[in-house]
Amino acid sequence: MAPLVWLITGTSSGFGLFFVHSVLAHGDKVIATARTLSKIQHLKEAGADIMQLDVTAPQAELDAKVKEAMGFYGKVDVLVNNAGYVQTGNWEDLSHEDLLAIFNTNVFGPINLTRLILPYFRKQHAGTIVFMGSSAAWQGNPGASAYNGSKAALQGMVEGLQQEMAPPGIKTLLIEAGSFRTELLDPKNVKLAPTNFKEYEKYNNWLKGLAKSLNGAQVGDTRKGVETVVDAVKGKGWAEGKEVPFRLVLGSDGIKTVVDKAKEVIALCEKWSDLF
Ligand SMILES: NC(=O)c1ccc[n+]([C@@H]2O[C@H](COP(=O)([O-])OP(=O)(O)OC[C@H]3O[C@@H](n4cnc5c(N)ncnc54)[C@H](OP(=O)(O)O)[C@@H]3O)[C@@H](O)[C@H]2O)c1
Repeated sequence: MAPLVWLITGTSSGFGLFFVHSVLAHGDKVIATARTLSKIQHLKEAGADIMQLDVTAPQAELDAKVKEAMGFYGKVDVLVNNAGYVQTGNWEDLSHEDLLAIFNTNVFGPINLTRLILPYFRKQHAGTIVFMGSSAAWQGNPGASAYNGSKAALQGMVEGLQQEMAPPGIKTLLIEAGSFRTELLDPKNVKLAPTNFKEYEKYNNWLKGLAKSLNGAQVGDTRKGVETVVDAVKGKGWAEGKEVPFRLVLGSDGIKTVVDKAKEVIALCEKWSDLF
């Protein structure tokens, strides 16, 4: 099988960084991107091509970036929409700007990049688009609505895309990960909307402490999670000879979240079904 060319966003840490090393170990080519190029300079020595890319850039800039990416090998086979971050805070404290910012990164970034790559994939009659969603899309947590909502929006957008793009031979994979040890919950990365209300002060302190206590204690093994996804894309390992599902729920806690929510909704519908 000829090496695949991967374009991956947000490779300065976490899942993105593991993806780069895994893809290279599989003998594929990777265009690793980050919004700060100096953070991924070291990936060049590992064998990756590197490119600056902020997924929130305006469409024209993203267009130029996709053209630049195509220039490395004349094609891209796999786009991994990985970049993302966590915004916390109470509903009342989250400003419109806070929400626009997280949706720009976690939702519109992947949508805009995907829109630009699709014409190339259609011409190739092939290509895979991976979205790093989250089991957080299936639940609501106090103080985490902005993140939950962004991943739920992504889920909603991607399910239709998968059905639209299957006929021309383009694969869509939605990864819904539980908690994995990355820098996502590192205090330097988690944004917390400061409270404007005395009543929420205690609560905001609790939120700050919660993110800190979860950071580094995530049950998921990031290397294993990434290998599972790379195998899914390449049809290797566990995926060999199998029809890879559109939705891959990663990690034991992620699976529990989704199963619990599905059961809760089924029970609710059954209990109230005679209303209609
Ligand atoms: N870890 C988990 O438990 C978990 C669970 C479910 C889903 N996910 C998802 O997995 C993805 C990767 O996160 P991670 O866990 O690996 O966390 P991470 O270690 O914090 O990595 C996030 C990456 O996204 C980049 N990024 C943030 N904003 C960006 C932007 N505007 N443009 C380009 N890159 C940007 C960061 O780059 P900078 O260095 O520039 O900040 C960083 O490289 C995210 O979409 C996250 O929501 C993670």
